[in-house]
Parts: sequence; C-alpha cells; structure tokens
Amino acid sequence: MHSIRFQFLAFITMLLLLLLLLLNTYPLITSRDTVFEEKRSSLSGQAAVVASSLSGTDRLNQAGVAEILRFLDISGFARVVVTNKDGTVVYDDGGATGGVTDIPDIGTALDGKTVFRSVFADAAFVSSIATPLSSQGALTGAVYLSEYDAERAEILLTLQGRIRILSLIIGVVALVLALVFLFILMQRIRALVRSMHIVAEGDYTYRHAVSGRDEIAELGQEFNLLTERLETTEQQRRRFVSDASHELKTPLASIRLLSDSIVQNDNIDPATVREFVTDIGNEAQRLQRTTEKLLDLSRLDDDVQMIPEPVDVKQAALDALVLLRPLAREKQVRLRCDLEEGCVVMATLDDMFHILFNLIENAIKYNVPEGEVFVKLAGTEDSVELSVEDTGIGIPEEDRLNIFARFYRVDKARSREAGGSGLGLSIVRDAVLAHGGSITVGPNKPQGSRFIVRFPRPTSEETGI
Ligand SMILES: Nc1ncnc2c1ncn2[C@@H]1O[C@H](COP(=O)(O)OP(=O)(O)OP(=O)(O)O)[C@@H](O)[C@H]1O
Ligand SMILES: [Mg+2]
Repeated sequence: MHSIRFQFLAFITMLLLLLLLLLNTYPLITSRDTVFEEKRSSLSGQAAVVASSLSGTDRLNQAGVAEILRFLDISGFARVVVTNKDGTVVYDDGGATGGVTDIPDIGTALDGKTVFRSVFADAAFVSSIATPLSSQGALTGAVYLSEYDAERAEILLTLQGRIRILSLIIGVVALVLALVFLFILMQRIRALVRSMHIVAEGDYTYRHAVSGRDEIAELGQEFNLLTERLETTEQQRRRFVSDASHELKTPLASIRLLSDSIVQNDNIDPATVREFVTDIGNEAQRLQRTTEKLLDLSRLDDDVQMIPEPVDVKQAALDALVLLRPLAREKQVRLRCDLEEGCVVMATLDDMFHILFNLIENAIKYNVPEGEVFVKLAGTEDSVELSVEDTGIGIPEEDRLNIFARFYRVDKARSREAGGSGLGLSIVRDAVLAHGGSITVGPNKPQGSRFIVRFPRPTSEETGI
C-alpha cells in the first residue's frame, strides 16, 4: 500500500543527494584546479627569473646569492633555498646553510628536472617549485621556492560554505515540494480506489468524480466507462432473468389451472377432459420450445465458441425450407426461393440453420393467407447476401429496432397464439454477429418485411479450399 510512495520518495531523495553531491564537489574541484594552474604558471615564472639572475655565477656562495636575491622581490615566498650542484645549501631563508639539503625535490632538480607541487591543505595552498641552475650549459646548482597562500584558500572555503547552505535549502525545498506533489497524487489515487470499492460492492450507478486531464483522470474516465458497461450488463441480466421467469410462469400457471379444474371437477365429461389435456400438452410444448431457445441463446453467449467451418448456405436454406413446408401449407403461404450455388461462409452448420429457420418461420407465421415467402441467396465478390422477404403483416417502423431484443414481440397476443416466445430473432442476431455478419430489417413492397443478412466471403486460406 505504501510502496509507490516509498519508491517515489526514495528515488527523489537519491536523485537529490546525487545532485547536491555534484553541486558540492564539482565547482570546488574545478576552482581548486584553476588555482593550482595559476600557481604553477606564477611559480614557474618566478623560478625562471631567480634562475636566470643566478645563472651568471658559476660558483654559488652564500654572500653572492644573498646579494643577488636582494634585488629580486622574494618577500612573497615562505622559503627560498639555493644549493650548489652537490646539494649543499648556499642560501636558505628558513634554515641553516652549509649542510646538504633535506628537500627531496632539490635532488630531482639537480638531475636537471623542474619539480612543481601544490597542495590544498589546512586552509591554505602550499606550493613549491625546484628548478636546476645552470651556467653556460653546465649545471651549477638548484633553486627551491615555496609559497603559502591562505587568502585564495579562504575564498574557496567561503564558496564551499555558501554552496553547502544553498544545497541544504534546495534539498529541503525540493523534498517538501515532492512530498506535497506525492500527497496530492496519493489523494487522487486513493479516491479512485475508494470509487472502485464502492462499485465492487455492487453500486453500479456510482460514478467517479474525474478532475484534470492527466493519466489519472484518464484512468478515472476509463473506470467510469467500465462501470457504465457493468451497469448495462447487470440491467440486461436482471431484465433477462425476470422476463425469462415470467415467460415460464405463464404456461406453468395455465397447466396448473387446467389440471386443477380436472381434479376438482367430479362430474366432468371425457370430451372436456380431453380438451383440457390437449391444452396442457400445448402449454408443455411451448415451455419446451422456450427452454430450448434459452439454451441456444446461452450457448451463443458462451465464450467457448464452436470452431467455424465452411458452410454451404444453400444447403442450410434447403434444410430449413423442407422442415417448414408443413407450416407453410397449414398457413396457406407459398414458399419461393432463388438460391445461388457456391455461397460458402465461415460459420457452424447449426448456427446457419438456426438463422434460416427462424427467419423463414417468422416470414410464414406473420404472413396472411395466400401470402408468399421469398428466400434469395446471392454472392458478390466479397460477401454473401441472404434475404428473406414476406408479404405478411409487416413490422411497424418504431418496433424494428426492438425486435432483436429478447422476448420482444410486436403483437403479444398474436405471437403467443402463434406459439412464439420472442427469442427467435435474438438467436438469429447473436448467431449472425458471432460469425462476423450483419443483419438489417426493412419493409417489403407492397407489404410485409424483408430481412437481409450479410456475411463476409471467406478467403481461400480460411476455407482451406
Ligand atoms: N416477418 C415478420 N413479419 C412481421 N413481424 C415479425 C416478423 N418477424 C418477426 N416479427 C415480429 O418480431 C417479434 C420477434 O420475433 P421473434 O422471432 O424474436 O419471436 P417470436 O417469433 O415471437 O418467437 P419465437 O421465434 O421465439 O418462437 C415477433 O413476435 C413479431 O411480432
Ligand atoms: Mg420467431
């Protein structure tokens, strides 16, 4: 729960520490190096001046050297040492003369090399240079100059102190800002989580209050969309359950009523009993049909789809027409068809049969005596089109959108009389959509309805032909 906050804070702190560390070292190191360079060039210059002044004398002695040095400004140096070529000190303003020097750099200078050193320690720059002396190309001795600079060191130390204070201020301000930002962010995330809890507990009408336009706001919007879909699905589920139970309740109530009348009536004549039992049978049949259709629908709802295979629509249409011929005869409706060969779509034979059977059954059921049903199947280059036209009672325009909904019937009385449960077209629509097709409904001229189903023509890769 605290982990994002912790990670974010740890990250910010690390970043800040790194930045401040850099701020506290880099400028100081560069300024120090600049001072070192300055010292090198100034000391080299001064050493050169001293060396050239002493180069005239091929034999160095204390009096001579002191005399020459008196004319040079050497007051800025902490120590000036001059030795002859054996390393014997001939001049030292900070020690005794006569002995062999103990300064190792002078030894190196006596080998002909100039040695420069500069260190920053104990609040001062301590720099020194040792350089060989020569006269007419021959080594005569060495000179050593050392300098102690506390002034530059102090400037550097003051700078360091200021940077430290500045870093502290920057660090505190950045951390406070990060904390404030984090707090606001966490508040918003927590609000979203709270909304999720509310919805998870079943209040699908709840909507998260979205503010701003950033990613969290987007998350909130997506969450609201999800809730909306959940709400719709839940409403549909409830309506479906209540519709389904209502649908099953009515025939069950009739069966009970009919059986009760038989049982309770002592002197009921056999003809009436027969009539009642026939009615009971009819109601049971209706129940059976409804439950079968509900099962079909739930199978279509299932995620586990049957694997589509190439289906010849013409064959499915002929199968449906053969089965429906008795019904058409009973209703005095003429069946006509014009079915093109080779109209193959990717579906299952079962689904294709259901589509055709339900559409043609409706066209017969909601027809008029001496009416006609025309089934046409034709293919274009990339689609297969199936149309079922009838000359029946037609569907009012305002009902056309609804007829695909479960249990919807335009004329309840007429549909019930015809044994309909209002599920046929929703099965048709689900099956058509499941196989990538589309279905539309419109009026037929001069009267009746026309249903058109379109399927994409499968590629030869899909059919494997
Ligand atoms: N060809 C048609 N002509 C006129 N009305 C139709 C036609 N097809 C469907 N309808 C109307 O649409 C409603 C829904 O049709 P659907 O096939 O879903 O249900 P049903 O035929 O009543 O019952 P079921 O098909 O489940 O036995 C029907 O009750 C009917 O009012
Ligand atoms: Mg129907």
